[in-house]
Amino acid sequence: MSVRIFAPGVVKLFGEHAVVYGKPAISATIDKGVYIECKVGGELVVETLGPPAVLRYRPGEGRAEAVGVEKFLSYVETALRIAEERWGRLAARFSIRSDLPPSVGAATSAAVSVGLLKAYSHCAGAEAGAEELAKLGHRVELEVQGIASPMDTATVSLGGVLKIWANPFRVERLNVDLPPFYVVVLPRFGTTGGIVRDVKSLLERRRSAASVIDAIGRVVEEAEGCLARGDWGCVGELMEIDNWLLGALGVVDGRVVNLLEKLRPFIYGGKISGAGRGGVVLILPREGDVVEKILTAWGHPYYKVSIYHGGAAAV
Ligand code: MEV
Repeated sequence: MSVRIFAPGVVKLFGEHAVVYGKPAISATIDKGVYIECKVGGELVVETLGPPAVLRYRPGEGRAEAVGVEKFLSYVETALRIAEERWGRLAARFSIRSDLPPSVGAATSAAVSVGLLKAYSHCAGAEAGAEELAKLGHRVELEVQGIASPMDTATVSLGGVLKIWANPFRVERLNVDLPPFYVVVLPRFGTTGGIVRDVKSLLERRRSAASVIDAIGRVVEEAEGCLARGDWGCVGELMEIDNWLLGALGVVDGRVVNLLEKLRPFIYGGKISGAGRGGVVLILPREGDVVEKILTAWGHPYYKVSIYHGGAAAV
């Protein structure tokens, strides 16, 4: 028995941070993500091929540092434990390969957790459904991170473009698509948990900042209409507004502002995706060729992606 699961990465089109305070967000799965293979037999082994973690080597100091490995291992360990509790002990070999670097805000941790759970369930003869995966995947993230909204794990599990309310959890599928767009990866400062806590403390210190959260909520509602009409000018403009509002919450830095300024004539719009302070920046292009030339000239790693309309599944 063997199975190969694709667990898609996730971008937040609109509404991150405000989703923590009761507003809806719009998230979507993309055609880059994590592949997990499971082969029954032998002893339990997990191996990774490709970059679930980044190696930083300092020859001068004779030191190598594997950035992200510890966190990555915690997701794997926790997902395996929860899978064993649910579907029983399994002797199998798992291999994991990721299209995307870890810890940038493309939900690779959610994709690893959900993908591993899904692969385990298939190899155990159970084939877990999307709703169960969303619940178990969220448990993995809560145990590893201590704080996590259900948005990433639900999106990886269900797939497509989703409008999500975190608390109480509710999800609506939006029947929309987007033309291919870019995911640019900037070095990220801080963790999702830390950045979410900073925003919370800003909101506690400054009452007026609550109106920024309300404004993001209104952007999400308007964006839903623009997406449904396929009005990319409107979608891009609202991405920019959302980005400035996120800037008011202290999570967008000068690197993102400069990048968007430079690209402005060639794009509909762009914004951070996820917690911010670097990480993923989404770019909705008018002239993709020019955008690619500029990103290459500036040395920014980027991925051209499309919306992927399925959740974690066997491929
Ligand atoms: C992080 O990807 C999205 C945030 O809204 C936090 C969360 O929803 O858990 C910033």
